[in-house]
Amino acid sequence: MTARDFIDTQDLTKDEILDIVRLGLTLKKCVSVGYFPPLLHGRTLGMIFEQSSTRTRVSFETAMSQLGGHAQYLAPGQIQLGGHESIEDTARVLSRLVDVVMARVARHQTVVDLARYATIPVLNGMSDYNHPTQEIGDLITMVEHLPRGKRLEDCKVVFVGDATQVCASLMMITTKMGMEFVQFGPEGFQLREELQHIGQQNCVVSGGSVFVTDDPHKALEGADFVYTDVWYGDYEAELGEAERLATFMPKYQVNAELMAIASPEAKLMHCLPATRGEEVTDDVLDGDQSIAFDEAGNRLTAQRALLVYFLRPELSNPIKVDAAKAELETLLAGIL
Ligand code: CP
Repeated sequence: MTARDFIDTQDLTKDEILDIVRLGLTLKKCVSVGYFPPLLHGRTLGMIFEQSSTRTRVSFETAMSQLGGHAQYLAPGQIQLGGHESIEDTARVLSRLVDVVMARVARHQTVVDLARYATIPVLNGMSDYNHPTQEIGDLITMVEHLPRGKRLEDCKVVFVGDATQVCASLMMITTKMGMEFVQFGPEGFQLREELQHIGQQNCVVSGGSVFVTDDPHKALEGADFVYTDVWYGDYEAELGEAERLATFMPKYQVNAELMAIASPEAKLMHCLPATRGEEVTDDVLDGDQSIAFDEAGNRLTAQRALLVYFLRPELSNPIKVDAAKAELETLLAGIL
């Protein structure tokens, strides 16, 4: 059986996303009281990183060790991928050596190909197209900080700035959940038509909405969550500082003035790392409305849940375990 992968938020139904959120919150509760369920005992995660990372790397590794498993950091130059070995062969080999792979890749096609050729689950740790594991943690953070009396589908989420891969994945998960999603960004840095179309299709099922604008009042009025990300532009061809500032500053900077347009209860989210003084000011990122650091902590909440969820079919087969134990006992009895 080919394993199930998590390459895109669109791979999951709304109910599956909610199952993962519940699992994440339950495991978070367990760990918070000092109980570390050994659900991943003996399991190994291979972590391929073509790009640098703090949150994704540390949260996946911590999640594995907390649940009794182990993670291997497979950095550029330390494995043959990208050098002498093809993606196809790397996927086939890792499928025989570890139980699950997480990959942060420069080009989305790399993680798609890894998943195609691997027979174990492959999780996308961010590509130039999307960042789906980030969005599981973000949704958990929104659940934990829901405005009083509101459900997820009553909330308005506004992404401010460049249509990064985080923006794309945030749009996908919020529209899946039936929420109101708005991107407030300048022309040329807005969600592409085909991405908006994915969101619109989600909304047909969920009842949510997706809207892109360069009008701050239309965007921010009534926002429950204001989200931003860096202004570096295209993943492989980052904008220089002068170009970034000319494009986004001051209109798209999340500062006290912009936050004042939103609901007074609105929360500030940021996937981090932040370029303080560019897309967000210190007073907002460090202020009372900011939940950005709780959000970073929930990367761990999400990774625990994702690892257990995607390894689950391998974890729960007591009949096979009993048969293997009997076979081992027979073998040892013949040797010893
Ligand atoms: N938000 C995020 O993915 O952070 P890292 O690049 O540090 O993993």
